[in-house]
Amino acid sequence: MIRRDVPMASLMQRCLSFDDVLLVPQKSDIESRSEIRIAAKIKDVVLETPIISSPMDTVTEGAMVKAMAEHGGLGIVHRYNSIEDQTKIVQSVKRSTKHPAAAIGVSGDFIERAHALVNAGAKILCIDVAHGHHVLTERAIKSIKDSSWSGGTLIMAGNVATAEAFEDLQSWGADAIRVGVGGGSICSTRIQTGHGVSTFQSIIACSFVKRSSALVADGGIKTAGDIVKCIAAGADFVMLGSLLAGTDESPGEIFEGKTGKKYKAYRGMASREAQVAWRGEARSLEGISTTIPYKGSVEEIMNKLVLNVKSGFSYSGARNQNELRERCTFIQQSDSSRVESSTHILLNK
Ligand code: XMP
Repeated sequence: MIRRDVPMASLMQRCLSFDDVLLVPQKSDIESRSEIRIAAKIKDVVLETPIISSPMDTVTEGAMVKAMAEHGGLGIVHRYNSIEDQTKIVQSVKRSTKHPAAAIGVSGDFIERAHALVNAGAKILCIDVAHGHHVLTERAIKSIKDSSWSGGTLIMAGNVATAEAFEDLQSWGADAIRVGVGGGSICSTRIQTGHGVSTFQSIIACSFVKRSSALVADGGIKTAGDIVKCIAAGADFVMLGSLLAGTDESPGEIFEGKTGKKYKAYRGMASREAQVAWRGEARSLEGISTTIPYKGSVEEIMNKLVLNVKSGFSYSGARNQNELRERCTFIQQSDSSRVESSTHILLNK
């Protein structure tokens, strides 16, 4: 970690992103994707598909939770609504998922919200703040864990960017930790504050911690290949926003652009539009609001992602996550390699 009291040379630490690296194919004896299990767990909760939908108001409400559960993943109901609305959503998904999950903050009514969500059936609470390495996160985790009503409720918390932060949140009692600051497709945190670490680099850093908490890679994941790179680098789960936004199951209306193409809205929760909608005013802006082409059902997206992620495991000859991490070899790619890695015939169109 770079500090003012260490030589400036340490400022030259790398900050690699997904597109800067590739996984080297390894000898494989896997004959079918059915031999591969990509599952991961948060304590005793096993998810066959290690994909979690972001707690954002254009990504996860009831329909997304159900679709994610059907495909072995997890959806986290966002917190940008009234306690009553959020608890109703949690109650409505209790038949379709064994692990209802919902987000809370670290100030205001968060304890009342957490208590109401647990009463409504939430099994996982996600403490959802932009800068998770904070005393407010410590207080929030401890006050929930110490409460008389939270027995057995799992806590996910974040987001963090460093190994020190991961260790702290783990010692404060987080069962899963979201790793990635400022890397989301709709984020402007790094532009507005100068702070952040590429999500891939943060995963690598946190992977060296002696871990009992699950690592959830969050922000900037664009492809199935990025998911494979996250898991190989040390993530147990990935969290997706833009890849799942714009679907039938994401909240919001479909609308047509001038050419007749269909779109849905996708917005950062710290964008002006989202802040005005949930708290009536915009304070520090660290995200944007945009539109995203309408993509149809989550089913199609999840099926493709799972198939491609399993293919990725097979290129490393890995039957499960641990084998992938043991067998994988990353290489850094040059600018021209990055061009070659893209579907470059399309560059001439
Ligand atoms: P992707 O790349 O999957 O990223 O679209 C989704 C993640 O972005 C985070 N998020 C934000 N980060 N400002 C930020 O800096 C925002 O307004 C914002 N909204 C969401 C969040 O971690 C999410 O999972």
